[in-house]
Amino acid sequence: MSSMIPFIDLDTQRQHLQPGLDQAIAKVIAEGRYILGPEVQELEKQLCSFGEAPQALACANGTDALVLPLEAWGIKAGDAVFVPSFTFASTAEVLPWVGASAVFVDIDPETYCMDPQKLAEAVKAIKDQGELTPKCVIAVDLFGQPADYPAIKAICDEYGLKLISDSAQGFGCTLNGHHPIHWADATTISFYPAKPLGCYGDGGAVLCRDAETRALMRSYAIHGEGTERYEYARIGRNSRLDTIQAAVLLEKLKIFAKEIDGRNQAAQRYAEGFGDLVRPHKVIEGGVSVWAQYTIEVDDRDGFRAKLAEAGVPSAVYYPIPLHKQAPYAVYPQGAGGLPVTEAAAERVVSLPMDGYLGGERQARVIDAVRAALS
Ligand SMILES: Cc1ncc(COP(=O)(O)O)c(C=O)c1O
Repeated sequence: MSSMIPFIDLDTQRQHLQPGLDQAIAKVIAEGRYILGPEVQELEKQLCSFGEAPQALACANGTDALVLPLEAWGIKAGDAVFVPSFTFASTAEVLPWVGASAVFVDIDPETYCMDPQKLAEAVKAIKDQGELTPKCVIAVDLFGQPADYPAIKAICDEYGLKLISDSAQGFGCTLNGHHPIHWADATTISFYPAKPLGCYGDGGAVLCRDAETRALMRSYAIHGEGTERYEYARIGRNSRLDTIQAAVLLEKLKIFAKEIDGRNQAAQRYAEGFGDLVRPHKVIEGGVSVWAQYTIEVDDRDGFRAKLAEAGVPSAVYYPIPLHKQAPYAVYPQGAGGLPVTEAAAERVVSLPMDGYLGGERQARVIDAVRAALS
């Protein structure tokens, strides 16, 4: 068996950034403002300019980033929030935290993002049933690519629903030249190390459109703090981004656009390398993905992965069991017709190595291994 290449090469990135990182981290340690230091504010400012957002709030992780807007908007028991089932747990996990119910919606078979037609049907059905009140949609920028925001936003407008783009995997992606916040009321980001813009620990942020939402989210993120210190206006939580992580992210943001280009070039090489044998991962028309994952579908997934591993090529499955098939989530309603596209994808998808530095011999090895495994 050949030695394994990395699934995500974080080390090459670290080598590029090492001197700046060392300096930035040393500065935070020397200045001693470990919590809510000036780097956190600077990061929020830069996230706004990078992501075309009027407001940004850094927080502890991408899961808290999802619950904070729900809390700020008063989403509560009896409310329905429409989410895909083909996603990481966090997208739905936060809904019971505020007492709301998930309603699972099927995905588009080619992009793996929420299918707007299925969303429209699900919202109408839940409204007609009258047990839950439709309140919000969380579209996921799965694998780094933008969901179909123009279509999803039109449905939200028709029914008066809030829209969150769960861009944990997709911060930096665009559709027709715009970031998801162009359509969404809030965009949530994860800085988990393996994400396209990752820090060296847990981290997250929420982008939003108005100062009032940001102020409420900030209060919820800081124990429900009111206008005075140690005065509490609501029940909150502790969700701040460490100053050191903000300093790391400021360094990483400097090269993020270049890394997104690198990821797109790598995706292009994959499509050219084996697009004749397997359908390459499709991005929505007009979309630019940040390629958190490069995902293909195969018939015999276990066999395919074993052959790749034999050639020293790691692979991963996102996600083998969709949320609606997991015990804690099986209780929630689904759109009419169930989730056949989600279930088929979960059995067939496999993700290949991807990062901003993929190329040369490393990528050639993946392409050769994929071709050999499929031939
Ligand atoms: C789609 C999606 N949403 C939310 C999250 C949660 O982010 P975090 O791990 O930073 O809490 C993730 C993380 O994997 C994710 O992939």
